[in-house]
Amino acid sequence: MSNSLFRKKSIAKIVKDAEQGLGDGHDAGGMNKILTVRDLTFMGVAAVIGAGIFSTIGTAAFNGGPGVIFLFIITAITCGFTALCYAEFASRVPVSGSAYTYSYVTFGELIAWIIGWALILEYAIGNVVVAISWSAYFNNILKAIHINLPEWLTIGYQTAKMNYDAAIAANQSTADLIYTNAPSIFGLKLIVNLPGFIIVGLITVLAYIGINESRRSANFMVGLKIVVLIFIAIVGFWFIFSNGTTSNWSPFLPKGMTGVLKGVSSVFFAYIGFDAISTTAEECRDPQRDLPRGMINSLILCTIIYVVTTLVITGMVNYKEFEGIADPLAFVFDKINMHKIGFIISVSAVIAATSVLLVFQIGQPRIWMSMSRDGLLPKRFSTISPRYKTPGFATVMTGFLVGLPVLFVDDKLMTDLTSIGTLFAFVLVCGGVLYLPRLAKQSGKFSIPYINGKLIYPILVALIIILITLFKPYRFDDAFHNLYLKDRAVLQKELTLNDLANVQSITSEGTKTMSITKEQLNELSDAEFNDTVRSISTLNDKIFLKGIMAIIHNLPIYLFLTLIVFMAIFSFAKNFSLIPLLGVTCCAYLMIEIPAKSWMVFLGWMAIGLCIYFMYGYRKSRLAASQELGIRN
Ligand code: ALA
Repeated sequence: MSNSLFRKKSIAKIVKDAEQGLGDGHDAGGMNKILTVRDLTFMGVAAVIGAGIFSTIGTAAFNGGPGVIFLFIITAITCGFTALCYAEFASRVPVSGSAYTYSYVTFGELIAWIIGWALILEYAIGNVVVAISWSAYFNNILKAIHINLPEWLTIGYQTAKMNYDAAIAANQSTADLIYTNAPSIFGLKLIVNLPGFIIVGLITVLAYIGINESRRSANFMVGLKIVVLIFIAIVGFWFIFSNGTTSNWSPFLPKGMTGVLKGVSSVFFAYIGFDAISTTAEECRDPQRDLPRGMINSLILCTIIYVVTTLVITGMVNYKEFEGIADPLAFVFDKINMHKIGFIISVSAVIAATSVLLVFQIGQPRIWMSMSRDGLLPKRFSTISPRYKTPGFATVMTGFLVGLPVLFVDDKLMTDLTSIGTLFAFVLVCGGVLYLPRLAKQSGKFSIPYINGKLIYPILVALIIILITLFKPYRFDDAFHNLYLKDRAVLQKELTLNDLANVQSITSEGTKTMSITKEQLNELSDAEFNDTVRSISTLNDKIFLKGIMAIIHNLPIYLFLTLIVFMAIFSFAKNFSLIPLLGVTCCAYLMIEIPAKSWMVFLGWMAIGLCIYFMYGYRKSRLAASQELGIRN
């Protein structure tokens, strides 16, 4: 059994299958090959610049000050290593399926299935987050033109309920809350995010109608959002220099690198998407030449845009003012009384999020299409609509998978799940490149420049270990972070008036432990609570429990160190290429920054995926069938 779990497809066979088309005769052979480097670059920018820059940049700037540009550059470099690995694969395996297909040829069927299942989190669940952000900005626009939808039609049930519970816990009035005022049906509150649901439906129709229409729309939206961002940069710099607000850039790193690194997950979310274009391989004119170029071009463009935008907003307004601001770009222009520009920004935020929705809504069905061709999903998922030449059934299913949760859920957990799913795929793609046979350079085809990691990588690992031992990231001191970090609402509810909470806070002078009363806790703003309070325990907690939690809490960093030590040993023995090694290392580090609570949900998701694989894919796999018949793959 263990052999069959890791059965692999050969690259030659994958390419041949895609060229011939399988199943009902309308598959790969029927897709339109029209995408050029320019289209792919635009698609990359379309997928990357969306909800992230228009919302999370504010929190990142508040934590890190103007120096948060370093985080954008560091994340870009991390994504750059990964993009090079995707590009290497895309050039060798020019078919739809992205990381899923790449894992199939390197690690075998089981890992490929796991990745395909994890990619649902990046594409479909990622789109849930983007659709929720789209809806919030869209509602701002409606309000500005005096159209007021009932509030219970503009937000997910879960978010409304969470706000209500928090108000109850904090003994605040609930009279004005959406949850209180929403109508009820059979005793259930009717609260749904209708605009988010409708936009997902419309985008699904567009993705169904065709890649050509989708390409034109994506190009148009990218053009528009780039024009708006350039306009913001020009007006912003003009304001900064004519009003002498350059002093806002000083100090450049007000909370040091610790503050900057707090924004890791939000900044990473802003970069997700450049890999999505690898799912359109079969619709490219020359995928082996154009896909790598498209990916790298879009990453460079987005980094320039992010760095410039961060400099503009932190130059116009002091970084301290971004506390709790969800729409930072519109906020800075409102702040200097340029309300019309704030309105333009809301419009472009909606357009930017629309383009992200479109690209992800195109990507998900193409991954399912590849999985279905391999027999791991029912055949319907790879049926190509004869009229529109798109994977019709898979596109409609994606519409449901994204649209239904948008109606009800809150986006916080969804954002973490998106990042975990994406990083998981990134680690396997970079790791997979290490196992590809080295090929001689062929003209017109991309290949990663080979730098021997034999000595460089182990030296780097030794440096990382020395740095971690010397500087002890907060994780080591902060024994109860994440898993044990209680929800503010829960804590407020649990504490009686005479209770004290032990709070560890991270300040620029280091970690401090202090005891605060319920009253003091109530005075902390949400941002202060989330940003400085790293772990909380009531005085009644058992020492025993704390010990176990400390071990669990430190587990991620120990796992990370173990991984890089093993990689150092292997790279010494096998002369591994340095770029993919750095890709795995950077992505693995980002992964351990994601809260354990979200990891638990992720593991549950993967367990469901494995059950489906063993009940269906393992038996129906085409590779299994061909092995039984003795056909060589
Ligand atoms: N990078 C995409 C965005 O920021 C997911 O919306």
